[in-house]
Amino acid sequence: MKVAPSLLSCDFAKMGEEIVRVDKAGADLIHLDVMDGHFVPNLTIGPAIVKAVRPYTTLPFDVHLMIDYPLDYIDAFADAGADIITFHLESMSDPQTTIEKIKSRGVKPGVVIKPGTPADVVYPYLEKVDMVLVMTVEPGFGGQAFMEDMMPKVTAIKAEIQKRGLDVLVEADGGISEATAAIASKAGVDVCVSGTGIFKAKDAAEAIRILKNA
Ligand code: DX5
Ligand code: ZN
Repeated sequence: MKVAPSLLSCDFAKMGEEIVRVDKAGADLIHLDVMDGHFVPNLTIGPAIVKAVRPYTTLPFDVHLMIDYPLDYIDAFADAGADIITFHLESMSDPQTTIEKIKSRGVKPGVVIKPGTPADVVYPYLEKVDMVLVMTVEPGFGGQAFMEDMMPKVTAIKAEIQKRGLDVLVEADGGISEATAAIASKAGVDVCVSGTGIFKAKDAAEAIRILKNA
């Protein structure tokens, strides 16, 4: 699997240095969790922070929008330096319009589903996106337990992508660590997000290596 450390678990006072740390440790992408206090009951970072930390790495920025109206903020996150923008199909913005808006800014679009949302909700968008993100915790907070019962959704989405001959990555987010990575990998996850599993590990490079080889 490719590994995307989630900055949600980093030292926010040293975000730039934390990015450099996981870049050197072998990260493939940097995952940035954007929360608005409405779509999820937590507030995190906005476009100003994304822009401020952008110069610390050349790794792609994988921006995960957990906000009610993602369409209204695509320009701001594109300007801030996002390479991939994923948004929830449970949000208020029209998915088709949001995907087109992301593409129009030269950014790769992805759709995300919460644990309660069935796999087939993403099927109408598979031809139009670069990534599908399957949440393996309820979005909102880091450090929660991995929901293994989301793996059938990963497998089903992977099969549908392969059946249609598409080049779409399946990402999983939440509770992925040394203990659960093999389960995700076996189910077909291409990119795993890990926050506490990497930033709270003694050795980030070792944690990333274990996830990659799971
Ligand atoms: C949860 C976020 C995740 C989270 C992952 O809403 O989308 O990216 O930070 O953190 P861990 O790996 O600690 O579950
Ligand atoms: Zn996330």
